[in-house]
Amino acid sequence: MTDIVVIGAGQAGASLVAKLRTEGFDGNITLIGAEDVPPYQRPPLSKAYLLGEMEESRLYLRPHSFYDDKRITLKLGASVEAIDTDARTVALETGETVPYDQLALTTGSTPRRLPDEIGGGLKGVYEMRTLRDADGMAPDFAEGKRALIVGGGYIGLEAAAVAAKRGVQVTLVETADRILQRVACPETSDFFRKLHHGHGVEIREGTGLARLTGTDGVLTGAVLSDGQELELDFAIVGIGIAPATTLAEASGLEVDNGIRVDAQGRTSAPGVWAAGDCASFPRRGQWIRLESVQNAIDQAEAVAANMLGAGTDYDPKPWFWSDQYDVKLQIAGLNVGYDRVVVRPGEGGSVSHWYYAGDTLLAVDAMNAARDYMVGKRLIDGGRTADPALVADPEADLKQLLKG
Ligand code: APR
Repeated sequence: MTDIVVIGAGQAGASLVAKLRTEGFDGNITLIGAEDVPPYQRPPLSKAYLLGEMEESRLYLRPHSFYDDKRITLKLGASVEAIDTDARTVALETGETVPYDQLALTTGSTPRRLPDEIGGGLKGVYEMRTLRDADGMAPDFAEGKRALIVGGGYIGLEAAAVAAKRGVQVTLVETADRILQRVACPETSDFFRKLHHGHGVEIREGTGLARLTGTDGVLTGAVLSDGQELELDFAIVGIGIAPATTLAEASGLEVDNGIRVDAQGRTSAPGVWAAGDCASFPRRGQWIRLESVQNAIDQAEAVAANMLGAGTDYDPKPWFWSDQYDVKLQIAGLNVGYDRVVVRPGEGGSVSHWYYAGDTLLAVDAMNAARDYMVGKRLIDGGRTADPALVADPEADLKQLLKG
């Protein structure tokens, strides 16, 4: 009987093992995860779950019975210490050794931490990555509390929205010139800055954190890079994530901003594959790494099929979303390399931003503009573009674009 072992029980790991069974794999499957809960959705943690509008049971990707029914051995709360790629075994912290014929790494990513020297280890300083992180901070989301959010990416902005909705006084600091600088155009940054201002969140761009201050190990305040002092009840750190590659590196796998895989998901070690946040893969002549649910699911499913011999290159069709207040942002495509943005105003404050490189449509950010997203996604996925004049004309019916 063939043994497949998957390390990392997040969205990618769960998708991979499920796909192995739907593809007809009949051997042994072991899914190993360091967290003590079965695979769950992370995106709601900084949205509906944190707001208290979604129950924990709804976060789980599959019911417990699924893993039994599909004969998938789940090892939870289990850390892998080492991989022996010659002997084809993985060693757990507990001393247990699990043999494999094929292995997949879906180890995900870990949040960047604020250094202890500037107060990163104080009680009341939270990261936002796991279910336990969200549970840990939830009681602090109460009327009248004062919070600092460090980082103006999607994690920081979503946390700010939930906190503001709960009546928390929020200050957000972003070291770059503008929020969302890494991932979005200035127009999208402007949209979300205005949205947050409207809900009373103070956004300080071009401002970093000098240090967090505390008494007896508990956070009490912060000093910003411009010298301003704040009194605080808690802080949330959303300053980006790094691919979880320590195990891969220690096992001799090639790593460079992620575990290097080929277009089908093979790492540099025979019989070892990788997918999801932790994997760096070739796309159109570049090495990229995608931090999204879309990639976790689609790449993991492609790798599962390839582990069984499909031999298909993974070609991502990126999409992403964020919820803040009553705004649903939907993103299609990847904007890397854009040289201009076309704005399409909609009704009731909805708007979409279309990214181009020359005449090529790369991506669309749609704010409460589901139709624009849908049309943009179909065009981008189909390798087509859109006449910018038509996109910019709010009277023009975008569906015309799909006919051409
Ligand atoms: N002080 C203030 N801001 C900082 C600091 C700092 N010390 N260090 C970094 N930043 C800012 C960065 O300039 C960036 O704008 O924090 C922001 C972090 O944004 P991202 O890198 O996009 O990461 P984050 O928001 O944490 O999200 C992590 O989870 O849901 C996903 O899409 C999300 O893939 C992303 C991941």
